[in-house]
Amino acid sequence: MKKEIEFMLNEEKVIVEVEPHWTLLHLLRETLELTGAKEGCGVGECGACTVIVEGDAVNSCLYPVMEIEGKTVTTIEGLAKPDGTLHPLQQSFIENNGVQCGYCTSGMIMSAKALLDKNADPTENEIRTSISGNICRCTGYVQIVESIKHAAGSMKNTQAAQNGK
Ligand code: FES
Ligand code: FES
Repeated sequence: MKKEIEFMLNEEKVIVEVEPHWTLLHLLRETLELTGAKEGCGVGECGACTVIVEGDAVNSCLYPVMEIEGKTVTTIEGLAKPDGTLHPLQQSFIENNGVQCGYCTSGMIMSAKALLDKNADPTENEIRTSISGNICRCTGYVQIVESIKHAAGSMKNTQAAQNGK
């Protein structure tokens, strides 16, 4: 039997009926038509389904939908500004060839965002650890790490410019 849940999704309140056995990924893709998070393995191994819940990167294919009641969820669809300006991570993945087939990309970016939101100046090791649960079958890891590094740099520069105003 369906149950109603309420949570914040990409800064908007969502009230929706769900089947208690659904995963968060199922709700996002099949009901809310947010298809940025991908289903790769469906068992928590590949990271293609990564979204951010309460500030942490999670595998939405394993996340029980009933557990998002009252929580804050961010998906790749929530990253660009309303005027279409891409998030620095999205821009950097384009500019630094961090995208090949693109299947892993939204998961990679969400894992990286969860890192940069907590640590604006990560080391390469910290970057690699943050995406250690994300598999790229195109094996573009060097460009992906570069993309995250450049995004961190450009976000720091923007912050410094804003502070200098
Ligand atoms: S689809 Fe969720 S970890 Fe692979
Ligand atoms: S770009 Fe193809 S799986 Fe990563």
